Amino acid sequence: MFFSKKCNFAFLIFITMCGIVAYVGHQEAYPILIEGLKRLEYRGYDSAGVALLNKADQLNVYKAKGKVSDLEAKVADKDISGHIGIAHTRWATHGEPNETNAHPHLSKSGNIALIHNGIIENYLSLRKELEKRGFQFKSSTDTEVLTNLIEDVQQSEHVDLFEAVRIALNHVIGAYAIAIVEKGHPDQLIAARKGSPMVIGIGDGEYFIASDATPIVGRTQKVVYIEDEQVVRIKLGEELHIKTIQDVEAIPYVQELKMNLDSIEKAGFDHFMMKEIYEQPTIVRDTMRGRLHPEANTVRLGGIIQYEKQLLYADNIVFVACGTSWHASLVGSYMIEKLAKIRVKVEYASEFRYRDPVVTPHDVVIAVSQSGETADTLAAINLAKEKGAIVLGICNVIGSSISRATDAGIYTHAGPEIGVASTKAFTSQVTVMAMLALRLAELKGTMKDEERLEFIKELDSIPEKIQWTLDHSGHVKDIAAKYKDVRNMLYLGRLQNYPVALEGALKLKEISYIHAEGYPAAEMKHGPIALIDKDMPVVFIATNHSTYEKVISNIQEVKARDGKIIAIVSQKDVLARKMADYVIEIPETECLYSPLLATVPLQILAYYIAVMRGCNVDQPRNLAKSVTVE
Ligand code: AGP
Ligand code: GLU
Repeated sequence: MFFSKKCNFAFLIFITMCGIVAYVGHQEAYPILIEGLKRLEYRGYDSAGVALLNKADQLNVYKAKGKVSDLEAKVADKDISGHIGIAHTRWATHGEPNETNAHPHLSKSGNIALIHNGIIENYLSLRKELEKRGFQFKSSTDTEVLTNLIEDVQQSEHVDLFEAVRIALNHVIGAYAIAIVEKGHPDQLIAARKGSPMVIGIGDGEYFIASDATPIVGRTQKVVYIEDEQVVRIKLGEELHIKTIQDVEAIPYVQELKMNLDSIEKAGFDHFMMKEIYEQPTIVRDTMRGRLHPEANTVRLGGIIQYEKQLLYADNIVFVACGTSWHASLVGSYMIEKLAKIRVKVEYASEFRYRDPVVTPHDVVIAVSQSGETADTLAAINLAKEKGAIVLGICNVIGSSISRATDAGIYTHAGPEIGVASTKAFTSQVTVMAMLALRLAELKGTMKDEERLEFIKELDSIPEKIQWTLDHSGHVKDIAAKYKDVRNMLYLGRLQNYPVALEGALKLKEISYIHAEGYPAAEMKHGPIALIDKDMPVVFIATNHSTYEKVISNIQEVKARDGKIIAIVSQKDVLARKMADYVIEIPETECLYSPLLATVPLQILAYYIAVMRGCNVDQPRNLAKSVTVE
């Protein structure tokens, strides 16, 4: 069980991962809903469902684990009639991906069906209250709690559904985009959102609701983007009625939908990879939400709360991972050793699993994986368990093999990463590592309170600093144009910037097919400096930190041999920027956090070089998003 069975982990509000679609109008709803779910499949999901209210006022709910096509197969011989319905693709956050936890969820009476994107953070306390009032729950989801909360309000306050939703949402902490259909109301949908996007399409005698405009394209061009904390009543023959959850009327702002299908899926970017690079401020914010508490000078990682002692007193914390996740683990090792003074080893899972490593029950192994399906990492987990170690996980996919193979863990909730080259998963993993290091330091007393508070506040500022970095990376495209035809590239960094050098080189290799190597900058003199000449561009991660002067010397060594230099520097840098041929600035930050910022321009550099070389950025040759083979 990825999450320890008893713990009630702090969850993240996360940007919407998957999809909601709803319809009411003169057409049969089912075909529109299913087509809408298919158009949202790019967002990633693990299960799907639909609820339809037919002419006999029967609310038919069908759900399936897996793909939308599995749902279609399931309803092949069922009653799918009705001019009103709601449909959902789920990206599980509370409860395994299975049919019971899939949406739509019915209320206790069976009169209300609801679909939801997002996370209800206070669902446990709400559930306890509702259980005291006689409600029982079939699923482990937060969504079913919200469904019954709304029904409880409707019945106890004797109000209509629109008002019941408004009142109920005042008791909810978290993110939601919801759509609700109610028996006895075949011409009405109720919707609301906060933190997860929602758009309403206004057709001719029909309305559409969706997570984004993708399911609406081609059906109408009139759309209304719902704002946070707004509740909407959609009733055939009437105008949209919108008000805030504070009961303030809001005027619908009708816009013209101009995007085409393909561009909507990528939110206007040319590739998923760039979309995901630009999602990083949001992702890092959501990775920290519900976990980083500056006001209390603490971090709460609910998923591993039961294993904090074992982590604290471990002989070794051993990260096992592959690729980018291994680079994130290397950053994590610097953070944990520096802040919590606990010995950390970082192992390539593929090596670890075969070299009969010394692992004991006094070690804690942490498997790091975006996909949660990497064969080598899974094998490393099993070996570590055979040797008696506790095995935790840091993973991005709920219910994945790795999340189920570990004793407990922390979900990064970076949302589906569609681009094969990992970007936002790296920054969300490193953010989790930073929080883990701070939590262990707090428990072990290796940081003074005021020092820890400084680190926590600085981490809290990272999303805005990533945004600054993105906003000031326009010239990276020009640098890419300069170097798009090179045959080799070197990336050099020291300490926590050494993994950044590795990650930057990997990004370039895997999407542009240019040979690139990451090295500890000091290692140059032990051989690789023989490579330096005017045709060898060298990227230095020369941000402000304890060995800055040493990096300056390394830059001089490269310059003396006519090497061309691209330098990632801190905003206040003076020396490195004078020596480099090209400079990319990132905001000042705590040394240990520089990977969260310095990696971003390297992702963008690799992206533009690959695009200029005509490479398939989202699906590079020879690569799979998840290496499930050995
Ligand atoms: C990174 O851009 C690559 N896609 C690859 O190295 C990846 O990080 C590696 O295969 C590990 O995948 P995982 O995080 O899903 O386990
Ligand atoms: N938190 C809800 C669940 O786990 C919704 C997740 C989603 O956005 O799909 O069912």
